[in-house]
Order: sequence, then structure tokens, then C-alpha cells
Amino acid sequence: MKLWEGRFKKQLDKKADDFNSSIAVDSRMVKEDIAGSIAHAAMLAKQGIIAQQEAEAIIDGLSGILADIQSGKLEIDADAEDIHTFVEAKLTGRIGDAGKRLHTGRSRNDQVALDLRLHLKKLCGTLRGQLIDLISALCDKAEKYAGAVMPGYTHLQRAQPVTFGHHLMAYAEMFIRDIGRLDDACGRMDVSPLGSGALASTTYPLDRGAVASDLGFTGVTHNSIDAVSDRDFAIELASALSLVMVHLSRFAEEIVLWCSWEFKFIELDDAFSTGSSIMPQKKNPDIAELVRGKSGRVFGDLMALLTVMKGLPLAYNKDMQEDKEAIFDAFDTVMLCLDAFTPMIETIRVNTQNMRRAAAEGFINATDCADYLVGKGLPFRDAYKAVGTLVALCIEKGHTLESLPIEDYKSACGLFEDDVYQAVSLDRCVEMRKVYGGPAPENVRGQIDRVRELIGGLK
Ligand code: ARG
Repeated sequence: MKLWEGRFKKQLDKKADDFNSSIAVDSRMVKEDIAGSIAHAAMLAKQGIIAQQEAEAIIDGLSGILADIQSGKLEIDADAEDIHTFVEAKLTGRIGDAGKRLHTGRSRNDQVALDLRLHLKKLCGTLRGQLIDLISALCDKAEKYAGAVMPGYTHLQRAQPVTFGHHLMAYAEMFIRDIGRLDDACGRMDVSPLGSGALASTTYPLDRGAVASDLGFTGVTHNSIDAVSDRDFAIELASALSLVMVHLSRFAEEIVLWCSWEFKFIELDDAFSTGSSIMPQKKNPDIAELVRGKSGRVFGDLMALLTVMKGLPLAYNKDMQEDKEAIFDAFDTVMLCLDAFTPMIETIRVNTQNMRRAAAEGFINATDCADYLVGKGLPFRDAYKAVGTLVALCIEKGHTLESLPIEDYKSACGLFEDDVYQAVSLDRCVEMRKVYGGPAPENVRGQIDRVRELIGGLK
């Protein structure tokens, strides 16, 4: 049975019917669809558009349908055109004529825009919680390793000393901004389109505000044409999700590097690594690699949404049915990634010795050594040059700046004295970087406190 049967003399071709159907994707919005219909029916009765008993029958019928779907008593028909059609047809089947009044003053165009907004609001809430959990796991790890010296990199070359805690908190900052972007997009999406009808609203005296507040929206959309043709919110969310994936995939890449034999800064828990079918020695970071790989899907979803919407004339076009598959896939993928990623982070073992060894070998205290000479009155450029000579000497003699004899130091510049060893000690190099935002352990602890307070307020 089709909702739009009256005008047609022939049944829809089976292939066209299957092609047209979106039930496989939109059936997951059944709860929102029913909630929207209940709010609409209650409002119709309050406004005197349908009778009170009819509204009650509709609301009872819809609640029964939802209960039966949730208990497994009622199966969603895979051949239905979409979830809106399925629910309405079921309702009319169960309660008779009253069911036929539900769609008064409504179109599937404002209905689907409503369901999607409601569903995405719910997904945003779940994802937000997952991000908060990840940030909190990062704070815990960072606290433990606030003083663990590791080389910081530029161009993947050892550059300057930081701590593992500081490095982890860099990611915490990214995920905090991700939550901000989600909240921002979600806030703009938080208005009810119901009452916009197919595109030109309706002649019935609907109370749009009542429906909106009933459904937990902060307001209503302001233009009926825009309300049914806008999918900006899905695109904004897909963009925010893409950035989450950018951050996760950069992190994943570092995890892959860090657990390679070349680095061995961390070891993944056995529960979050896999073996090889042929090489018995292998312990592979598959979870991190898959997270890195799945970023591609989410970027693809964003591209799909942009491309679907581009060039569409106002208002609703069937092309827009494609929106759900893309945005749901983006959410599902990010959530799936976070589900595995956070416990993987929680269970990593950190090899602080290897980090320190790598930090000691890379001349990452060369800037500090130059700053030492600046402290003795030498201009920075001259100091830079003198230390450059020293680094070359160290490489030639197989020394580090910590082990190079004082005579060699003096040969490069007469200003060097015994206290240079203190100046190039890695712990000191890190401790001295206490400018706000820097890696000094006390700073890192301060940053962790700030982030913990922030996410406490976000919950
Ligand atoms: N399944 C449709 C979608 O997801 C619902 C809206 C249908 N509206 C219409 N005018 N055909 O977009």
C-alpha cells in the first residue's frame, strides 16, 4: 500500500519500488518518528483540528507500535517505502480511521527533517560522552607521565624535549575542540521543522512552538522552504566528525610508530593487538591502523553529503534521501572507533626508559645549550653556531652533549663552564619550559586540572 496511491493507475514497478525504498536506512529512526507523531497528534487535538478521542487513539496506537517493535513482537517491514509510511500504515491498520487523521497538516518532508534532527541530537549526546571518556583517559595517563621525558619531533626528527604527558594532552585539547564543534553544530540543528509541511507550511492553525518544546527543541525553524530543504546540519556534523577522525588518525599513526621496534616507546596490551598468521614474533597494532583507515570512510561521507546537496533546487528533492546513509555511517564509524580506541589507550604500557634514551641521543637539548651561552652574554646567533660545532664534534666522537668532556666544550667557546652539564640535563630542560602551555611537569599537571574541570562541566 502506498500513501500516494490515489493518483496512480498502475502499481510501482518492483525494481523501482525497491530502489525508492529507504526503510533499510531510516528504520533506525522509528523512535523519533513515533515521538514526533505523538507530539503532532497531541497538538492537533489541543488546537481543535482533530478530536481529543482521535488523538488518544493515535497516541495509544503509536505507543503500542513502538512497544511491540521494541519487544520484537512487531517486525519492521523491509518492503515498506520508508519508516514514516510503515508507522502510519501500521497505525491505520490497528486503529482504523483515526489513524488516517495523523498526517493532517504534515508532510513527510517536514517529518523526515524532524526525525533526522532528533536522531542526530541523540547520536551527538552519545558521541560527546565517548569523547569525554577518551579525554578523561588521556588525563589519567598524562598525569602518570607528566614528568616522563621524551623527544618532541618536527619533521619526525628529534627536536626538543617534552614529556609524554604533555604530548598526550595535546590530543586532549583537540578532542575538547571537537566537542565544541559538535555542540555548536548541534545547537544550530536544535530547532523543530514540523509545521513547514511539504514546503509551504499549512492552513491549519498549528502550534509549532508547543510541538517543539514537547520534543525538547530550543525553538522552531523560521522559513518553511528552508526547513524542509536544509541539510546543513548533517554536513556540519559530518565535518566535525571528520575532524575527530583526523585527530584519531594522527594519534593512531603515532601509536603505530611508538610500538614499532624502531621506537618502542609503548607496548599495546595483548587484548588490543593482533598476531600474524605466519610470523610468530609479530604483535600488530591493528586497532590503531583500522582507526587510521576508517578516517577515509568518514571523509567520504562528508564528501557524499556535500555532493548530494550541491546544486539542488529548493525545496525537497528525493536526492536528499541519501543524506541518512552518509551521516549515520559517519556517526557509526566514529563511535565504533572510539569504542575500541579509548580502552586501547587506557591499557598501553609506557616504556619511559626508551623514551628517555631516544631523548638523550637526539641532541634535543642543543637549543638549551645555546640558551646557556646566551645566559652568559653571547648573542643567540653566535651561541647557535658554537653549539652547532659542538654537535658535529659529539657525532664525530660518539658523545652526547651530556657526556662531552668540558675541554671540548671550551674549545668551541670559552664561556662554557662545569655548570653546562646541569643546563643540558634533560629533566632540567623540560622543567625550565614553564612558560604557559609549555611541557614543564608542573604545567602539564596544571593543564590536566584545567581539562578535568572543563570536562566535568561538559558532562
Ligand atoms: N524517505 C524520504 C527521505 O528520506 C522521506 C521523505 C519523502 N518525501 C517525499 N516527498 N517523497 O527523504
